[in-house]
Amino acid sequence: MTSLTLNGKVTTVAAPEDTPLLWVLRDHLGLTGTKFGCGMALCGACTVHLDGTPVRACQTPLSAAKGRKITTIEAIGATPVGKAVQAAWMKIGVAQCGYCQSGQIMTATALLQANPKPSDAEIDAAMSGNICRCGTYTRIRTAIKTAAGQGDAA
Ligand code: FES
Ligand code: FES
Repeated sequence: MTSLTLNGKVTTVAAPEDTPLLWVLRDHLGLTGTKFGCGMALCGACTVHLDGTPVRACQTPLSAAKGRKITTIEAIGATPVGKAVQAAWMKIGVAQCGYCQSGQIMTATALLQANPKPSDAEIDAAMSGNICRCGTYTRIRTAIKTAAGQGDAA
């Protein structure tokens, strides 16, 4: 059994330690908000936070999450920045199909936690690893600026 601090609660899971965290979350713990896109660290759909840093859960073994704080999309709204990001996402109506959006929100929240007033270039750099096949990038940037209190301008 591996003990994790997941969304503020100590959780134990019976899975081999080389199991990708994505499958631990989705298949063992039923947290399906974190999505499988590529499985190769290329798309960002599986982004979660480890000690506040965004990581690709598809390429993070369970062993690497031991003893660290894991936050997923299911709990990011309990943080002040995550709450503001989700509210901005709703206000702007960012999502199209929605598949990539939990990863986008996790990356955006990590950005604003580290840099509360990012420039356009800093937003683009931080978000560049999160792919959206629906092309919602302009709305994502607008929502990040809204969450940062920088108005609705893209
Ligand atoms: S599913 Fe992990 S980066 Fe694409
Ligand atoms: S909203 Fe469809 S992939 Fe991003």
